[in-house]
Amino acid sequence: MAAVSAITEPRLPIQTGGCHAFAIVAFPGYSHPHHYPDSPVSLANRGDLQLNSLDKTMTTTISNTSKLNSLKKAQDATVLLRADHTLVGGLFDEYEKKPSLAKKRQLVAQICAELSVHAQVEEEIFYPAVKRALHDKELVPEATVEHATLKALIAEVEGVEPTGEMFDAKMKVLGEYVKHHVKEEQNEMFPKAKATDIDMAELGAEIAERKKALFAQRS
Ligand SMILES: [Fe+2]
Ligand SMILES: [Fe+2]
Repeated sequence: MAAVSAITEPRLPIQTGGCHAFAIVAFPGYSHPHHYPDSPVSLANRGDLQLNSLDKTMTTTISNTSKLNSLKKAQDATVLLRADHTLVGGLFDEYEKKPSLAKKRQLVAQICAELSVHAQVEEEIFYPAVKRALHDKELVPEATVEHATLKALIAEVEGVEPTGEMFDAKMKVLGEYVKHHVKEEQNEMFPKAKATDIDMAELGAEIAERKKALFAQRS
């Protein structure tokens, strides 16, 4: 008893039923319901409330809570993509400040990973949705061609020791190219996409999920 009380007292929010009521929730199988006639355990044993239904209620509550949390976390697709753009822009700014070699290595690796994953989720999820909704024959093909150029530039710097003026020049050109591409997406494609009936929250959730998987593959 003392051991259970010691565990439960600091965090026990349940007044009715004392530590046993908590114990049946926290430690399935532990119970002395006869001590506490009004505890959930006693009610269950009296037939007023079956333990099975208590378990089901708890499971349903947990499941609903996690669904709610996922929904809360679901972001508008364009908000999520804009956040990626801002993050990468900041990383290029840091590179421009001529940091140490070690920092450069870290920045280049992060920039390449972020850009590659971002381009892939756009090509797999966002661009096809935009193309369908807008019956687009211009914005998406142009952006896809720009991605190909970005990937070629990424291949020139990823995993390469960041030394020498040519390396810095490549990073500079990559940064400028990303800026140009981002400007077109944010000023043209995103506003047009948002004016359609695309479910941006659903698309955002799909993009977030795919990004997570792609980053996991890279690590
Ligand atoms: Fe893009
Ligand atoms: Fe983008």
